[in-house]
Amino acid sequence: MTIAVLGATGMVGSRVSAEAAGRGHRTLALSRRPGEARTRANVTPVAVDVTDPAAVGEALAGPAPTGAADAVVLAVRSFPADREFLVGATRTVLDAAARLGARVLVVGGAGALRSPGAADLLVAHDPTYVPDEHRAVALAGTAQLGICQDHADADWVCLSPPAVLEPGPRTGRYRRGTDTLLTGSDGRSWISAEDLAVAVVDEVENPGGERHFTVVHTRRPGIKDA
Ligand SMILES: NC(=O)c1ccc[n+]([C@@H]2O[C@H](COP(=O)([O-])OP(=O)(O)OC[C@H]3O[C@@H](n4cnc5c(N)ncnc54)[C@H](OP(=O)(O)O)[C@@H]3O)[C@@H](O)[C@H]2O)c1
Repeated sequence: MTIAVLGATGMVGSRVSAEAAGRGHRTLALSRRPGEARTRANVTPVAVDVTDPAAVGEALAGPAPTGAADAVVLAVRSFPADREFLVGATRTVLDAAARLGARVLVVGGAGALRSPGAADLLVAHDPTYVPDEHRAVALAGTAQLGICQDHADADWVCLSPPAVLEPGPRTGRYRRGTDTLLTGSDGRSWISAEDLAVAVVDEVENPGGERHFTVVHTRRPGIKDA
């Protein structure tokens, strides 16, 4: 496949790009400063600003001889977090991918998940997981999911990470859920960015069927998670 990763120099995008390329997929590594992407076989760095819809459309159409993207992974984030940036970037990518017939996997936020034990409460509104000072960022992620749900034409899936997502080991294992925040048997809602990337590329290769799903770390085979 040809997989475009938008945000390919970021924590998530760099790992998704490496995972996709490592499995032999042609990978378009897109960001404003792609020179910061580690160059490796199968990876084509492309400079693009996601706020420029024409440039995004052109980039996803692919530089020869790579060809157009079959799938697009959206993993951008701005500092400081900006709801309008996230919503606009998501709409731009969904529009461009719909024109190409490419599937989009959005790496969203944990805030868009249901809170464990309170199905009518989103994590973004749950002070157990989101302190007041982070609520606006969490709500930007729920707005991003809303843009996907409202899009008439795009083929999309949204992966909400667990509460904590950070660099760590690649075990190749994870537990998958739907739209409720997961915790492991150790009580931690956590996954490494490396294992999240495994889940992203697994979903791109073999769609699981849900529009919104999550993952969490899991232990060695034979040790059960809760
Ligand atoms: N627990 C959670 O819910 C959780 C935790 C962490 C992350 N996340 C989500 O995961 C996603 C990725 O986050 P991250 O931590 O990997 O972000 P990150 O490390 O900050 O990387 C952001 C990426 O976006 C690119 N980017 C920023 N502005 C851009 C623009 N205008 N045009 C093109 N590319 C642009 C950056 O590259 P350039 O600067 O070169 O353009 C970079 O590659 C986000 O949606 C974030 O909310 C969720």
